[in-house]
Amino acid sequence: MNLPPLTLVPSLPAQADPLVLGLADAAGTPVLVGASDAFSSAFAERFGAAPDVWALRLGGAAKPGTTVVLPGVSGAVVLTGLGDVDVTPDRMRRAAANGVRRALESAGERTVSVGVSLDAVEPEVVAAAAEGALLGTYRYVKHGTPQPAATASRIDLAGPSAAADAVATARVTAEAVCLARDWVNTPANLLYPETFAESAREALKGLRVDVEVLDERALAKGGFGGVLAVGGGSARPPRLVKVTWSPRGARGHLALVGKGVTFDSGGLNLKPGDSMLTMKDDMSGAAAVLAAVRAVAQLGLRLRVTAYAGLAENMPSGTAFRPSDVLTMHSGKTVENVNSDAEGRLVLADALSWASRDKPDLLVDIATLTGACQIALGDRTAGLMASDDATADTLLDAAEAAGEPLWQLPIPEEMVEHLRSEVADLKSAGPRPGAALTAAAFLREFVPAGMPWAHLDIAGPAWAEKAYDHVAKGGTGAGVRTLVALARTLAR
Ligand code: BES
Ligand code: MN
Ligand code: ZN
Repeated sequence: MNLPPLTLVPSLPAQADPLVLGLADAAGTPVLVGASDAFSSAFAERFGAAPDVWALRLGGAAKPGTTVVLPGVSGAVVLTGLGDVDVTPDRMRRAAANGVRRALESAGERTVSVGVSLDAVEPEVVAAAAEGALLGTYRYVKHGTPQPAATASRIDLAGPSAAADAVATARVTAEAVCLARDWVNTPANLLYPETFAESAREALKGLRVDVEVLDERALAKGGFGGVLAVGGGSARPPRLVKVTWSPRGARGHLALVGKGVTFDSGGLNLKPGDSMLTMKDDMSGAAAVLAAVRAVAQLGLRLRVTAYAGLAENMPSGTAFRPSDVLTMHSGKTVENVNSDAEGRLVLADALSWASRDKPDLLVDIATLTGACQIALGDRTAGLMASDDATADTLLDAAEAAGEPLWQLPIPEEMVEHLRSEVADLKSAGPRPGAALTAAAFLREFVPAGMPWAHLDIAGPAWAEKAYDHVAKGGTGAGVRTLVALARTLAR
């Protein structure tokens, strides 16, 4: 995570190479966005027509997601589609990211100074452009021989100085997203519970947060039977990480719980090889809560925020937990393990009951929990299940402000019946139909009655097979921006 500096500049950074401009749709007519008259006429004088004319000739369009590269007067010009001229923050974020990514792709192996001018004026829209531009530069650096690729040494973004605070917030948020991406992209032989906990400590250094790491001995003492069972098959012992940001004058207490399965082989219910290939991303929830609390501390939000990350590696071995094992969880409830691949909920259950002891006003968990949620909602939309609709709406609003697609699913009452066990208080999983919903019903058993609680299933959006908009290929940092937006709202 090494994002370039981003500077707000009052007018078109015409000398920047490459320069990102926009193409918007005004009632069917594509219009050039972000260029000055002087720039357009200099361009037309040199090439015989204005940049938008050339863009259309070369197949560019105002449609979101399209980009086109043109030669420029002092360097390359990239036009990015903004959609309707009335540009929302969400479309601005996506267009800026697409423009910057295309600009870097077209720059070969050069180190470049990128200009972005998209006529953003409202602070919220300028911030979205900044966030998109920064996220669009992200790349996970290959291990081994360095890959030749263009690097942005700086980004100059045209926008009013009144947007400076909003842009500073956008930068902190984008850095948190990219920190989560780096954690997710780090292979599981390098990032496992112990090293993940150390890396979190490192990332939080210098901030006024308290970091507590429970090792396997502390977990045994605390009775964390779920985390210990899941981590028991691995040569790399589990951890529970708690990060507390507790500023003076806090407006309330938000608890964030993340699933941090650093690799999910399925355990004794071993996954087929192909399904295992992306399972280093199974700690995306933990990455999201740890990155989000870092952003909250950097922003100095007046809200107590505590992040709890349950870290374990799910492996098959002679010490692995077995299907039919009965586990005594941290809450005291017993669970019959029916499938060692339903491991995330066991880790989360312990972290949830631990977190609920601190009596937060709102408890949110986030996890790559079920393939079923991905099947239901696809690769870009996260699932939301909650204790009540008011809590669900709070999360839906935060996700909308962040521009992260989120869709509410129910927890039908019969799901609880599916979890009845003959030998323990609960079974760990039910039948295949509605598997995302039974998972939520299971988690709810570890949240005290009456405590506002929301569960985000990011099995789909945590990973992207290819980059699009502000979303990078590989680990995406899904949920980070929603959690930061939520904390910002609660702190107001
Ligand atoms: N980590 C997986 C869920 C997952 C699947 C995330 C695909 C991302 C992409 C989780 O631990 C899992 O294996 N869930 C099982 C639950 C089942 C055994 C009840 C699943 O979804 O199949
Ligand atoms: Mn699993
Ligand atoms: Zn898993």
